[in-house]
Amino acid sequence: MDNSIINVPAYVKNEKAISWIKEIVGLTKPDKVHWCDGSQAENDEMYKQLVKSGSFIKLNESKRPNSYLVRSDVSDVARVEDRTYICSVNKSDAGPTNNWVDPKEMKATLNKLFDGCMRGRTMYIIPFSMGPLGSHIAKIGIEITDSLYVVVNMRIMTRMVKAVWDVLGTGGEFVPCVHSVGAPLVQGQKDVPWPCNSQKYIVHYPEEHAIWSFGSGYGGNALLGKKCFALRIASKMAREEGWMAEHMLIMGLESPEGEKTYIGGAFPSACGKTNLAMLIPPDAFKGWKVTTVGDDIAWIKPGKDGRLYAINPENGYFGVAPGTSEKSNSNAMATITKNSIFTNVALTPDGDVWWEGMTDTPPAELIEWTGKPWTPDCGRKAANPNGRFTTPANQCPSIDPEWENPDGVPIKVFVFGGRRSTTMPLVRQSNNWQHGVYIAATLGSETTAAAAGKVGQVRRDPFAMLPFCGYHMGDYFAHWLEIGKRITHQPLIFAVNWFRTDKDGNFIWPGFGENMRVLKWIVDCANGKTKAMDSPLGRMPQYEDIDWNGLDFSKKQFEEVMSIDPEQWKIEIKLHEELFNTLQDKLPKEISALRESLLAKISSM
Ligand code: GTP
Ligand code: SPV
Ligand code: MN
Repeated sequence: MDNSIINVPAYVKNEKAISWIKEIVGLTKPDKVHWCDGSQAENDEMYKQLVKSGSFIKLNESKRPNSYLVRSDVSDVARVEDRTYICSVNKSDAGPTNNWVDPKEMKATLNKLFDGCMRGRTMYIIPFSMGPLGSHIAKIGIEITDSLYVVVNMRIMTRMVKAVWDVLGTGGEFVPCVHSVGAPLVQGQKDVPWPCNSQKYIVHYPEEHAIWSFGSGYGGNALLGKKCFALRIASKMAREEGWMAEHMLIMGLESPEGEKTYIGGAFPSACGKTNLAMLIPPDAFKGWKVTTVGDDIAWIKPGKDGRLYAINPENGYFGVAPGTSEKSNSNAMATITKNSIFTNVALTPDGDVWWEGMTDTPPAELIEWTGKPWTPDCGRKAANPNGRFTTPANQCPSIDPEWENPDGVPIKVFVFGGRRSTTMPLVRQSNNWQHGVYIAATLGSETTAAAAGKVGQVRRDPFAMLPFCGYHMGDYFAHWLEIGKRITHQPLIFAVNWFRTDKDGNFIWPGFGENMRVLKWIVDCANGKTKAMDSPLGRMPQYEDIDWNGLDFSKKQFEEVMSIDPEQWKIEIKLHEELFNTLQDKLPKEISALRESLLAKISSM
């Protein structure tokens, strides 16, 4: 191996990291090695290179300063769940909800694919911290990649700074992440704007805490700090170490009296976490403040005082663009005014971006996300439904003052919600922690464009973690039950559904800012300021318990979104049983018992 290209900087002192990097250089055979320091100068140079090569389009500097548009290959636009693997030593540790291959076999496959896969390219070494640098909840990763797109996105999404090497020191632990787009360049071959490979592998070795990703440059497939590390590997670490890694937003609600309540909210991909985390209360809620700690991932640890404390391990938002507007999320719109990367959205003639839902009237002409001309009547989408923005968290107007508190913020409430056009009421409170775990464990949701495959089919998505749990889902339920036993101040657990539709398929609940009405009832419950009525599904508000000031929403409409249809619920409970049957070997007994009691309650309705 030609070690001369590696050129280890003097500030890198971690022998384990150095020998691992040498090994990956030897395997992947890049032309050059670049150690990222995260500096502004380095970043500026990278953008220059990305524009020059034709991968990035610089947006109009006066409209969207320091921002760029990127078009991916049309075959590489979302997470690939069927190519995502949890390669634990024993198959039963991955469980039936994960794809599994024997780690020895997977390593043999990947060794072939990675052999020489960076030929003709530069290898970038990205040191990053998930969570505020040095926080006792934070963890360090090193991503090796041959994609500059990944580097500039990781710089927004994580703390990618030279100082990570100081925190790591000589013997510190890190999660090794290897990524390649899988498109080596033979001598003289011209690169394409979005290199990728039709063969894709997103692989996790949970025992080694290692990640290998091949063939995709997009989002969660390639920005390995996010789903691969902060959820799949971290969930495994969390179970071992007694904490939780969750697919959750973290938000703060402050009452006019100054009482602050932090909420962790789990919703499946593209089901409204970013919107909720940045919610702007309706005018009638003067004096209430909503603040954002995170929009996608929460790392949650029991504190010495018996409460749960959460940090957002990320440093930016990788948010769904379509549907984001001044009306639906003006905080997000303000966040993305500068220093942002836009992937797979449309380009306006004046060098700005546009997507479906951004304005009521679309521009007369655009260049759509694939690079073709577009007009409003052309019958095609201007933006890909999973088109996204990457934007720094600290640009968000609603960012919580405590969002980088290394000790996290105290969580008082958990909210779980899926995208359900039927069956699920607008809001209910679980009877207790175990019942809350049951509700979260049986969460169902209609699939979205965030993952490749069919959109709009209801599937079970326990805790919104189906694609992100790094071990057996039954063990994961047990871990939640166990955490509940270990803490003295259990957060209250609620379920919501913003997506119920009427017979014409229109959403009944106005959603977005109006969700504040439901959240107010929830935090009032948590602070002992309101009451709830028992129902077969848990505790529910009555019409009078919700603040309707400034919204025309009738008692009849409320009853429609809150209604419980026993026939639909019998089908629902059958689906719970189907999930439980697949998890049988590791399903906690409490959970099956709760299904029986639910069935009894519904049957006697
Ligand atoms: P990931 O980043 O994929 O994990 O998703 P997310 O949960 O952050 O998704 P996001 O907030 O970007 O969800 C966007 C989608 O949810 C869009 O289709 C929105 O229109 C829809 N949405 C968000 N809030 C509401 C709501 O209150 N009501 C309705 N009906 N739709 C909503
Ligand atoms: C999700 O799909 O839940 C996301 C986007 O947050 S990605 O980073 O691509 O996983
Ligand atoms: Mn997500």
